[in-house]
Amino acid sequence: MHTILVTGGTGYIGSHTVVELINEGFRVLIADNLANSDTGVLDGIQEITGIRPGFEHLDICDAEKLKGYLDSNPEIGAVIHFAAYKSVGESVEKPLKYYRNNIVSLINLLEEMKSRSIASLVFSSSCTVYGQPDQLPVTESAPLKKACSPYGNTKQISEDIIADFIKASPSIKSIALRYFNPVGAHPTALIGELPRGVPDNLVPFITQTAIGLRDELKVFGNDYNTPDGSCIRDYLHVTDLARAHVAAIKRLLEGRNKDALEFFNLGTGKGISVLEMINTFERVNSVSINYTITGRRPGDIEQVWADTTLANRELGWKAQSSLEETLASAWKWEKYYRNNKA
Ligand code: NAD
Ligand code: WQD
Repeated sequence: MHTILVTGGTGYIGSHTVVELINEGFRVLIADNLANSDTGVLDGIQEITGIRPGFEHLDICDAEKLKGYLDSNPEIGAVIHFAAYKSVGESVEKPLKYYRNNIVSLINLLEEMKSRSIASLVFSSSCTVYGQPDQLPVTESAPLKKACSPYGNTKQISEDIIADFIKASPSIKSIALRYFNPVGAHPTALIGELPRGVPDNLVPFITQTAIGLRDELKVFGNDYNTPDGSCIRDYLHVTDLARAHVAAIKRLLEGRNKDALEFFNLGTGKGISVLEMINTFERVNSVSINYTITGRRPGDIEQVWADTTLANRELGWKAQSSLEETLASAWKWEKYYRNNKA
């Protein structure tokens, strides 16, 4: 049985990935500094899978502590690296916090991988590296655009660091997964997204408006060059996304990767507008959302959705959840969380 280190594993996507790894028979160890999560997530993972993953309260930026942890866990054979800060807005206000955390944590991890027999890395990247693509749907060979935020830049820089590191250390192999818009929650509603404070992202803002925590949702612009004027994104169920990580780590561990560093777009392949998201959420969950149309949000791109041909073929992965199922899971989680956890 392989032991996988999941950094950032009590976070939103990490926790859902830990569930799927355990379901697939992997032994999982989580290292997380709880900057944006809490250990209550471990209870949810255990309730879903019957297994409580190992947990280390650890800042990956602390090289000495990371070294000590890995010395104590020599059975770790691969890493899935989720640990990072991810707020676009905050990264504009506090760029150094983002560059330090997201880049130093990766460099520390790569250095430790090199000095041990940890040869496989799956990295959390983002479609933000594409900016506003010239062609849609966007493929992995699309040109990367200048990042619109320090956060997005940390993802571009991280991909370059991994590429240069692997050139110098050919025994290491990696897959960078470029996520589009992960949304929703585990079908049991025992784990989900835990945005702290006022959510930046659309779906948690929708669910918090529906449950009465927010007075109204602001739709940031309906004057875009799209069918209904609102922005278009590719919204992917977080459990589908988690399953792609299992496929990716298996590909590396079984030596099926065709290059030392591979990139895969992870989305549904369908573009959905903000207004379609609201209407679908209302219809599926029989709730109404109080929203107003306001001005555009600075930095928003108009439309992006994935060409998922490569991931479908090479990872044998395809998003399974319908938009309706995805938005129903988001609402079920919001109700469960507010009634049991908040
Ligand atoms: P999240 O904030 O829920 O999870 C990140 C986890 O990493 C948190 O538990 C946090 O405590 C931990 N962490 C942060 N810095 C750390 C450090 N130095 N040491 C140890 N732990 C640390 O975010 P998420 O949505 O689960 O995102 C996971 C990854 O996916 C991130 O790298 C993010 O950039 C990337 N990503 C997210 C999205 C999205 O929309 N959620 C989209 C594309 C890419
Ligand atoms: C989606 C759409 C908004 C909130 C961001 C990051 C990206 C990745 C995913 C980390 C946009 C509109 C939103 C609201 C709205 N994160 N919206 N009212 O901006 O596509 O991507 O999260 O990697 O890097 O940029 O996601 O959910 O913030 O917005 O109208 O209150 O919903 O304008 O069109 P986004 P989002």
